[in-house]
Amino acid sequence: MLRRCGLGVVLSLVAAAAAVVAMWLVDWWGPRPGLRLFVPEELARYRGGPGDPGLYLALLGRVYDVSSGRRHYEPGAHYSGFAGRDASRAFVTGDFSEAGLVDDVTGLSSSEILILKNWISFYEKNYVFVGRLVGRFYGEDGLPTPELTQVEAMVAKGAEASEQQQREKGRFPPCNAEWSSAKGSRVWCSRKSGGVNRDWTGVPRKLYKPGAMEPHCVCVRTTGPSSDQQDNSRHLNRGDLDNPNLEEYPGCSPLAIECSFPP
Ligand code: HEM
Repeated sequence: MLRRCGLGVVLSLVAAAAAVVAMWLVDWWGPRPGLRLFVPEELARYRGGPGDPGLYLALLGRVYDVSSGRRHYEPGAHYSGFAGRDASRAFVTGDFSEAGLVDDVTGLSSSEILILKNWISFYEKNYVFVGRLVGRFYGEDGLPTPELTQVEAMVAKGAEASEQQQREKGRFPPCNAEWSSAKGSRVWCSRKSGGVNRDWTGVPRKLYKPGAMEPHCVCVRTTGPSSDQQDNSRHLNRGDLDNPNLEEYPGCSPLAIECSFPP
């Protein structure tokens, strides 16, 4: 009898331990404790109108309390269309019609998706995160859907492309340019042209970017190693002048920092 009781206690303990582990696993994989899940119908009540329980909006399925920004989102305000729903697409397109205020972000490019991520950073910083919206981006279990995972991959791709663009801009900063009917056009380089602060001035060149229809004016470093061979001590000391995508401006001295083209 005693042995039977002992076995019962052991089995109960094992069952209890298994339950604790299961709960721990659910907690780990599942939604964060205290994380609130909304269904769209519920979120739709949060439009900041009289009698509404609050003023919330969702972006990529993340729900924020935006009541401190009431003047933007309350009924009748310029961005009231964002309230009580997930209108992620309109954050990129600026289409604030009912057809545009939707959460479907398919077909947007990775750089457009990156804009959404920037909006999320904005809401994280300025408003209070209150939960997740069950639907396109989070399942009923509160976990990310494959669609959200795909969106996140696009964000990473967009971020990488943007970093690459920044690097390219540091290497070939845009020129200053002006035009008048009387004087014609003028392009020139300075240590701040293109909004890129640097310790060199450079000389104007046409840059032909792969895929771009027209070249644009960039400033090119004229001394030191080329950007492709920074660590090479035996360089030609011509900076990036020999880059094959560059072309000199006709009639302009190759090392002039300014080129003028009278009408
Ligand atoms: C894709 C297009 C656009 C989107 C998604 C968008 C979205 C928003 C949002 C969500 C806010 C509120 C931010 C907050 O909570 O503090 C806001 C504010 C504002 N937006 Fe836009 N906007 C867009 C285009 C524009 C354009 C084209 C202009 C100007 C011509 C503009 C001018 C403003 C101004 C001035 C505010 C601040 C208003 C204030 O502080 O009272 N927006 N925008």
